[in-house]
Amino acid sequence: VTPSTPDQTRSRVSRRARALRSSQIRDLLDLTRRPGIISLAGGLPDPAGFPSDRLAAAAADVLLTDPSRALQYGPTEGDPALRALVAEMHTVRTGRPTRPDQVLVTTGSQQGLDLLARVLADPGDPVVVEDPGYLGALQAFQAAGLHLVAVPVAETGTGTRDRTGMDLDALDHLLGDADLEPAFVYTVPSFQNPTGTSLAASERDRLARLADHHDVLVIEDTPYADLDFTGSPPPPVAAHTDRVVTLGTVSKTLAPGLRVGWIVGPTWLIAAATRAKQAVDLHTSALGQALAVDLLADTVWFTAHLGQVTARYADRAATLHASLHQHLGEAVECAPARGGMFLWARLPGVDTTALLPRAVDHGTAFVPGPAFAVDANLADRLRLSFATTDGAGLVEAVARLAAALDGVRSEPPAA
Ligand SMILES: Cc1ncc(COP(=O)(O)O)c(C=O)c1O
Repeated sequence: VTPSTPDQTRSRVSRRARALRSSQIRDLLDLTRRPGIISLAGGLPDPAGFPSDRLAAAAADVLLTDPSRALQYGPTEGDPALRALVAEMHTVRTGRPTRPDQVLVTTGSQQGLDLLARVLADPGDPVVVEDPGYLGALQAFQAAGLHLVAVPVAETGTGTRDRTGMDLDALDHLLGDADLEPAFVYTVPSFQNPTGTSLAASERDRLARLADHHDVLVIEDTPYADLDFTGSPPPPVAAHTDRVVTLGTVSKTLAPGLRVGWIVGPTWLIAAATRAKQAVDLHTSALGQALAVDLLADTVWFTAHLGQVTARYADRAATLHASLHQHLGEAVECAPARGGMFLWARLPGVDTTALLPRAVDHGTAFVPGPAFAVDANLADRLRLSFATTDGAGLVEAVARLAAALDGVRSEPPAA
């Protein structure tokens, strides 16, 4: 057998696999893993907030008292105790009675995005997404061959009448086009990734009415909904209509390494997604599910834990916001965060993609706006995560960013 040349090896890869290219920005972000970099690029939760002691106790308990529950093959739909708990939480949040057979446990909500893309749409079908939007969702939908139709997201303070989140006038207009008939509308209505914006309560009701009027399904992705700094989160869109499929996860509240998420939706959809999931991974880690349900079911502990995580993020968000204004002054536009893990900023006149390698040379990193774009021009935007780095690190990262920016400014403009 003659060893394959790299070119021959490449040609053995399917057309579908070849279409999944690494983006230029992804390649740039590899730089951010260099030692010594204070990176605000990743969406990584604070490791100090991982409840490792509580998880260790839960693991010892299940492994010593009921090892088969954690170590044997389990049902594709998920651990019955976790499905029941998620159904109960969904009932409380939405005010709509929800049964366990409306829940599919997934390997993170990322798997939920992939399954929904393949179960709700065929290649070439249009789906409506936020622009800018969550990169992982855009990738999952593109991998399924779906046609992305963008709806702008109004950034804080820049939207008409101070509306933020998905532009519902634009959505209404799109859905009014009888030829479009999207398979679904995908939205992150609470502390969106990347803009950090949220839909107000009245806008959530309006989105639900649009979904009912146009008979379209809404995928409501909620990973940051519990990380609310205001203390008065609006009800989910799913409280206003049953045309919503909810994605949830423990990634931002407990730990992403557990890889436990869920889909809540109508039973016909859960049945179809379960069949699709069976071919992918049989079921989500039984150990991960057992740990997740143990911690989530202890509501007194979970509420206190969430309070601590949220307070720390609120503190860091305020530090990062103040530091940006202090170091960059007029050169930055950025609204304070009301929850979640990200600040979204604008550096008028600066190409943030070109700025990134300079920032890395100065020892910090962010994600340039164009990484999240469908059609929008986001050349001067950037996403900064305040979750992973402590206050002193955030202040130092901004000082490094300011130094990188000074370098850009002092260069003569290209002829
Ligand atoms: C909006 C959004 N949805 C889904 C995910 C995926 O999360 P996980 O698969 O860890 O639940 C993320 C992760 O950052 C996200 O930001």
